[in-house]
Amino acid sequence: MALRPADRPGIPLFVIPRSFIQDLLSRVDIVDVVDRHVKLKRAGANYVACCPFHNEKTPSFTVSATKQFYHCFGCGAHGTAVGFLMEYSGLGFVDAIKELAQAVGMTVPEVAPEPAAQRKAEAGDDLYGVLLKAAHYYRAQLKEAPRAIDYLKRRGLSGDIAKRFGIGYAPDGWQNLQAVFPDYGAKALAAAGLVKVNEDNRRYDIFRDRIMFPIVDVRGNVIGFGGRVLGAGEPKYLNTPETPVFEKGRELYGLYQARAAIRKAGRVVVVEGYMDVVALAQHGVEYAVATLGTATTALHVSKLMRQADEVVFCFDGDEAGVRAAWRALEQSLPQLADGKQVRFLFLPKGEDPDTYVRKAGAAGFEALLIGAPTLSRFMLDELSRRVDLSTAEGRAGLVHQAKPLLKPMPGNALRVQIVRELAALARMAPEEVERLCELTPMVAKRPSPARTPRVAPAPLATRLLRLLMANPVLAAAISDEQRVMLEKDNDFVSVARLILLLRESGATSLGAAFEATRDSEHAELYATVAGETLHASGADEAAARADLESAFARLEEGRLRSELAHLSTRQMPTEAERSRFQEVRRRLAELGGGGAVNVRSQI
Ligand code: GTP
Ligand code: MN
Repeated sequence: MALRPADRPGIPLFVIPRSFIQDLLSRVDIVDVVDRHVKLKRAGANYVACCPFHNEKTPSFTVSATKQFYHCFGCGAHGTAVGFLMEYSGLGFVDAIKELAQAVGMTVPEVAPEPAAQRKAEAGDDLYGVLLKAAHYYRAQLKEAPRAIDYLKRRGLSGDIAKRFGIGYAPDGWQNLQAVFPDYGAKALAAAGLVKVNEDNRRYDIFRDRIMFPIVDVRGNVIGFGGRVLGAGEPKYLNTPETPVFEKGRELYGLYQARAAIRKAGRVVVVEGYMDVVALAQHGVEYAVATLGTATTALHVSKLMRQADEVVFCFDGDEAGVRAAWRALEQSLPQLADGKQVRFLFLPKGEDPDTYVRKAGAAGFEALLIGAPTLSRFMLDELSRRVDLSTAEGRAGLVHQAKPLLKPMPGNALRVQIVRELAALARMAPEEVERLCELTPMVAKRPSPARTPRVAPAPLATRLLRLLMANPVLAAAISDEQRVMLEKDNDFVSVARLILLLRESGATSLGAAFEATRDSEHAELYATVAGETLHASGADEAAARADLESAFARLEEGRLRSELAHLSTRQMPTEAERSRFQEVRRRLAELGGGGAVNVRSQI
């Protein structure tokens, strides 16, 4: 089963000497560490990949072997191998160090910490230890309980699946756990949510005669249980109360078991029940997780969005299901980055994922998933249902109701799309909807760029200027073709000129670069940039080079996209235009962008 041994404390029982960490970092190669989780591609001196910390189609995530540092040009994430593991795998500092040490065959020395920290650690460790021990006990008891085995079989579960989810059985009786924990009076048992104390100060087991579903966190620690009655009875499910290690608004049942399948499918399905997750896995839909009898929280959503680009919330088709879905929608809106997709699946009346997958199989269930309405569809349909669109009042009400939903959304392509659809329904101009909803304008037409060379540079241009000023030697690495491309673009003229100036001067430092640009056409701009660069943290040439490369990739991608857009408006394209169209598509695909139009936030 998925449980880890008891030696996995949540809080360290010891401290690690700093010297060891330095030593470890000198033996670890960040490229190997990252590559184990995110496939890296060589790009010059560095390695690149699509950033695992934000959504993107063009690789901006660079790993420098010489600097032993990673850095994302897109979202700014950066750090060492330790930081990467913590961020990527959700490990604590100590666990990240341990994992790295293990990979290079080093043993982490343990130094006793301060007494107070030690006590706290022991209290924390106790809960995990106690819960794990209980889980093993419940599992063993299942083997002795034909009634419970029979129940699980009738619900279509195999022994393998029961094992995978660590399913067990808590026998009937008030103090069974006394046999497992000789110190039945220990505080940790009550703190872990396994025993209760009554008015007469007598203790008793909380879970009796129930099928036990251990709740496991992403690191494999048992943090609580859900217990189901075997037949009829109240309550149907009993869940561990909130404890220091279990907060139900943070956790998703089955995530530990589902992670690999989620990554593979690029999709995660969120269902309501333990049995839904287990039954779906039994039928081969292994990327399902469940909220634990609570409404979807923002924390749930951010956890889910980190795991996959597509999140499907699955609810009953009744009024309560729609309400729960609406709540999930509200929690999702602020976190809807471009490239992320949320859908809502409402099951036919009287079905839940468990009953449905048993009838229709994985293929049948997945067909429902694929056809499930997107977040925007659900939102617009639901809003339209609430008002009378045939009246002016109803159409005004539509926009009024949409306002609190649109406001927290990031100003991205999806919001633009929703605003346009909403505007059509409300018979308004999209700009009016934006104004009424107090959104920063996105759909308003931008004035066409002025034809003067001193136009304020675009953010990407600023970035390039900074890079070049801080690392003037990079100017030599830019090809003439690239330079000409910059020269032709109004926003990048100043960059193209700077490249020439730097090359001619042979400047190798920021100071020298500054001198070389004095009295030039864009001197003021360069001086400002140099000032900003001085205040920025230490420049890393390798990272700068990688930045430069991905900046050019972006630049070219943008240029190709607008060419593609232009070509696709041609009514009767010539043979040459047609083949150019194909060529542009091919180049875009090579850059990883495909033909899809994707408005991305500027760096
Ligand atoms: P089965 O009847 O075993 O198929 O369960 P289900 O998942 O279909 O149950 P249901 O849809 O009724 O409940 C969904 C989820 O809500 C469960 O997995 C529990 O987390 C929670 N839940 C259900 N009943 C209770 C209850 O009586 N008390 C509490 N605290 N939670 C419950
Ligand atoms: Mn059910």
